[in-house]
Amino acid sequence: MSSLTSSPAPRRFHAEPLVLVVRHVREVLASGASRACIEVPDPDLGRGQYPGARVGPEGALVHRSFRAWCDLAEGLSCRLLTPRAVDATHVALTFEPLGAEASWHGATSSESAPRHERYGAGSAFSALRKFEDAGFLLPWLEALGRLRLPPDARVLDLGVNRGDELETFAWFEGLQDVSFVGVDHSASALAEARARFPDARHSFHVADLNALPPELGRFDLVVSVGTLQSPGVEDHALLRKLVQEHLQPAAALVLGFPNSRFREGEVVYGARVRNLREPDLSLVVKDLSFYRRYLHQHGFRTFLGGKYDLLLTAVRGALAAE
Ligand SMILES: C[S@@+](CC[C@H](N)C(=O)[O-])C[C@H]1O[C@@H](n2cnc3c(N)ncnc32)[C@H](O)[C@@H]1O
Repeated sequence: MSSLTSSPAPRRFHAEPLVLVVRHVREVLASGASRACIEVPDPDLGRGQYPGARVGPEGALVHRSFRAWCDLAEGLSCRLLTPRAVDATHVALTFEPLGAEASWHGATSSESAPRHERYGAGSAFSALRKFEDAGFLLPWLEALGRLRLPPDARVLDLGVNRGDELETFAWFEGLQDVSFVGVDHSASALAEARARFPDARHSFHVADLNALPPELGRFDLVVSVGTLQSPGVEDHALLRKLVQEHLQPAAALVLGFPNSRFREGEVVYGARVRNLREPDLSLVVKDLSFYRRYLHQHGFRTFLGGKYDLLLTAVRGALAAE
């Protein structure tokens, strides 16, 4: 960051097309400025109007929602600072370019931990709380809300880490007594999961997903988020094994596929293919097609939702909520 220059004075926009604003912000950032600041019509002027509606004194301003500015920041791989009022009609928006991707995205992590501890307790990943971000939380609640699990359901979480997904079951009425089985190759993350879910009905296994412990048994629900595309996981074989050996006749899966990357604490939309800077959804689309086809062949209905994690929900038998 030391090569970045200070930022130029804010430029004020009124009713110019968005493409000119984008061009300006890009140019400022390309010049090496540490941030780009612009003054734009207050998004609260013209609430309820579609983008581009004329608002303000004599219709001299164009309305854009705050969400649209957040999207611009994300699209430019920037952090948007909290808008500050400038005067009665304008707010100042500041865009700061995001730094490097989180270390856990790399093929070879810069962290010194062994591969199976890349996501362990104390890792950079462990600082993340995805369910404190509405872009992860709401689709997850929607996916679980599609299911009608029996009160004594058995739930298997593959790549369970410290158990964030499992904690969410307690937020649903009637699911306080489900029992959890978690599998992960990070012993330190599983130690945290055991401390969070000390009841004897839960169990956590340090194991490779390619060699699931045979005694796991059958489950009403399998969840796996951000794990199946991990390097070294033979996910097609794993899916077959789950369906053939670990699911009840009436059963469900909720599978999460990352459609985002973390950069300097911010989530940036779009699945990335290794060594490609621009997002490319082809790999995740290909994987999802395989999963959907296989699950349909085995009697499941599927739903696809999600935002930063794409969530494939599959339900067979009586587990679908009406
Ligand atoms: C990206 S993290 C996702 C954790 C959690 N499900 C979430 O979404 O926050 C991937 C998890 O899968 C585990 N994992 C990756 N490959 C594995 C393998 N071959 N066997 C067992 N666990 C694995 C990692 O240790 C890590 O906890």
